[in-house]
Parts: sequence; C-alpha cells; structure tokens
Amino acid sequence: MGFDQYHEPPEELPPSTRTFARMCASLTEEAEAIGWYEQRLAVEQDADARAIMSDAQGEEFKHFAMDLEYLLRRTPKWREIARGVLFQDGDIVEHGEAAEAAAGEGDADTPAFGAAQSPDGSLGIGSLKGASL
Ligand SMILES: [Fe+2]
Repeated sequence: MGFDQYHEPPEELPPSTRTFARMCASLTEEAEAIGWYEQRLAVEQDADARAIMSDAQGEEFKHFAMDLEYLLRRTPKWREIARGVLFQDGDIVEHGEAAEAAAGEGDADTPAFGAAQSPDGSLGIGSLKGASL
C-alpha cells in the first residue's frame, strides 16, 4: 500500500484532508488506467481481447466519474469552476478562465475540501454504498 499521496506528515493532517488526498490519488489512478486501456486497444488485434479491454475501460470511466463527483460535491470552489468548464461547447480555455474568475479567490485560510460539510460533520450527500471502486 502506498502512502505517497501525502506531501505533509499524515498524522498532522485532519481526516477530511487525508480522505481528500486518497480520493485525488484514486482519481489519478483511474485516469491512468483509462490511458493504459486506450493504448492497449490501439495495438490489440484480437477482437475478444479488445471487447474485454473496452469493457474494462468503461469501468474505469465510471470509477473516474464517481471519484470526480465525490470530490466536486465536497469542494465548492472546484465544483463551481468545473461547472463552468465541463459539458460546455466552445473554447475550453476561455471557459476555464471565465469560470476561475467567477469563482474568485475564495477564503485562502480555509481548505477548500469539506467546505460543504454540515455542522454535524456529515457531508450531506447521498451514499456511494454499493458502488464499486
Ligand atoms: Fe478503476
């Protein structure tokens, strides 16, 4: 098991920040797997093997999307910027610049993750129970 997702001593990080780091690492791993399957599919000639790899890549798309949604639900500024960029027609860079400007600087003293937590400490979102990761 790797612990290299931490760049600060883990014991000094609050649980929510460790969760954030784990989910960012998971998001990265899913994106890497998508890229690996894309490369395998580009060179594989066997139709049955290609079908299996394509199915597996679809699983990774799902995993990536679930990881991203988890992070966006708990990171309002990230969600706001993503909302301005994702699923928009037109120039991606222009949308990104506009979304970043609209999101403003935010509160630099507060970690972005978990800002949407309820006072009771719950994250106030639906369960991901039963979802395969
Ligand atoms: Fe996966």
